[in-house]
Amino acid sequence: MHRKMEEKELLLQAAKPLIDLAIAEDVGPGDVTSQATLPADLVLHGRIVAKAAGVVAGLPVAEAVFHAIDPAIEFTARVADGQEVVPGEVIAEVTGLGRSLLAAERTALNFLQRMSGIATLTRQFVDAVACTPATILDTRKTLPGHRLLDKYAVRMGGGQNHRLALYDMILIKDNHVDAAGGILPAVARARAAYPALPIEVEVRTLAELREVLGITPPVDRVMLDNMSLAEMRQAVALAAGRVPLEASGNVTLERAAEIAATGVDLISVGALTHSAPALDLSMKVARPEAQAPLSLASQLVEFKSGLGHRIVILAHHYQRDEVMAVADFRGDSLELARNATRTDAEFIVFCGVHFMAETAAVLARPGQRVLSPDLTAGCYLADTATPEAVAAAWDRIDAALGNAEAEITPVTYVNSSAALKAFCGQRGGIVCTSSNAERVLRWALERRPRVFFFPDQHLGRNTAKRLGIPLTEMLLWDRDQPPDAEAIRRARVILWPGACNVHQRFRPEHVRARREHFPDIRILVHPECPMKVVDLADEVGSTAYIIQQVRAAPSGTRWAIGTETRLVRRLQQEHPDQQILSLADVPPFCRTMSQITERNLVDLLAALARGQIVNEVVVDAENAHWARLALERMLQV
Ligand code: 13P
Ligand code: SF4
Repeated sequence: MHRKMEEKELLLQAAKPLIDLAIAEDVGPGDVTSQATLPADLVLHGRIVAKAAGVVAGLPVAEAVFHAIDPAIEFTARVADGQEVVPGEVIAEVTGLGRSLLAAERTALNFLQRMSGIATLTRQFVDAVACTPATILDTRKTLPGHRLLDKYAVRMGGGQNHRLALYDMILIKDNHVDAAGGILPAVARARAAYPALPIEVEVRTLAELREVLGITPPVDRVMLDNMSLAEMRQAVALAAGRVPLEASGNVTLERAAEIAATGVDLISVGALTHSAPALDLSMKVARPEAQAPLSLASQLVEFKSGLGHRIVILAHHYQRDEVMAVADFRGDSLELARNATRTDAEFIVFCGVHFMAETAAVLARPGQRVLSPDLTAGCYLADTATPEAVAAAWDRIDAALGNAEAEITPVTYVNSSAALKAFCGQRGGIVCTSSNAERVLRWALERRPRVFFFPDQHLGRNTAKRLGIPLTEMLLWDRDQPPDAEAIRRARVILWPGACNVHQRFRPEHVRARREHFPDIRILVHPECPMKVVDLADEVGSTAYIIQQVRAAPSGTRWAIGTETRLVRRLQQEHPDQQILSLADVPPFCRTMSQITERNLVDLLAALARGQIVNEVVVDAENAHWARLALERMLQV
């Protein structure tokens, strides 16, 4: 909390002169149009609304703009910086004199749109490398004067900041090397002049890298400038973890994943701040009485009671509060899968992501239909494993083992398509969830000596480790360079290289920072978090387990929770007697879970009330048959 306050104060300090300048250039002696057309005492209410999907950053700056124009304006943020929004979502509301609101509007939106644009682009890069441990960094390519604002927006997007400016880190580039007469003298002089500052050295060739690696004590970081993917791979092998490596130069969204796959630790991207398009936002004002609070909540209640027992609404714990409020049943993915088999309702309205709704459709009784408020709400993790790619890996495993079906059990995490569940069902395999992964893996290993686990490498690794399987007996599948037959034969657990872009954002340094601040804090994380985070945590478990732990804890318990932020916020509200924090500084939201909104749920129920069946989740009969088999095996374990 303390750090958050400090961060906001620093941001506002940096923004203050920019706000003054911007208001002077835009409003100058006055907004003549509003003064001419609006009565001086007219009070208006405004809503700042997202017109495109993105990540919000800069709300404190927007608020400061309104207050710089008129301190009496009431500003209420409806989301937090770092939060993903969908088109149409209200970001903030303002109430005050109409003339003041309209005078502030453009400047406030200019800051908010620029910063949100940077956060949005950063999040795209962060997501692109989410299956790897690589960290996305910014550069000094910021808008002059906006350095701190731009860098704040990068953090809100989930990236990290490189050096702030020329004074807080030594970065030796070719010009410095040439002037100093070589890498070694340049490093020696930098060390002598500024012994407390970290040192990074830029290299353009592997020969230069070798030279830098020979320096003792080692430098703090090496920048690989504009190297090819092959050179980066060699650089990673040469450095062998002794010095963190940063890839730099020509990093596009398309190349980011390939670069991360080389094994570099950091990737710096100038585009984050010099080429981010602004996020499209708008502000609409009206008289307060004309913008009565949205009545979607009451519409939901009405439609729901009108449809009565014909529908059941199931919602995953990561859903928005407004959606949770009308759910008949809340649960983690195992509980929701079980519940889908128990309901008699004609329609299962599934508020969660697509694979969960598919699971419900597979388990539903004959005649029951599963509907989703947004059929495009997928899952980043599930999408890392296509049936084709998994089948190609299986063929290679089959060739290496001779007879895969006697030697290895395919196990799919429930976060996968129905086609992959069917793939497992057909091959004696099984599904697992985060609640039962340990039991399922044990079951699988009792039947055949090996397991092929997809798509989440972290859940697979964390669970196998809990069963006592050493890391040396786990093999991470590499799609670009598939392992050879010998490596496949040596492995007991083969892990698909997928990861969740939400849980991948929790890092061991977050755990250390929380513990440093609060030595008594309990760290509670979801098993989709990377192993280094799970190893440092006090408790690990599914969303339902996380809820149980908090419920059972005595008043005054302090928690840092490593899972999706809507659940963490709900726990904060439900347990005000405990201190509950997100494990990360910029708490991550699941973008696709957020796609289910009050609006599209109302639309779905309204259509049903009119007798129209829309957004039905359908799994073809063949896939449904085999997927059911794999799910039933799981439900019996
Ligand atoms: P749970 O099974 O713990 O609900 O997790 C599902 C999920 O998608 C977590 O990211
Ligand atoms: Fe998928 Fe991650 Fe969202 Fe869970 S949190 S639904 S794994 S993207």
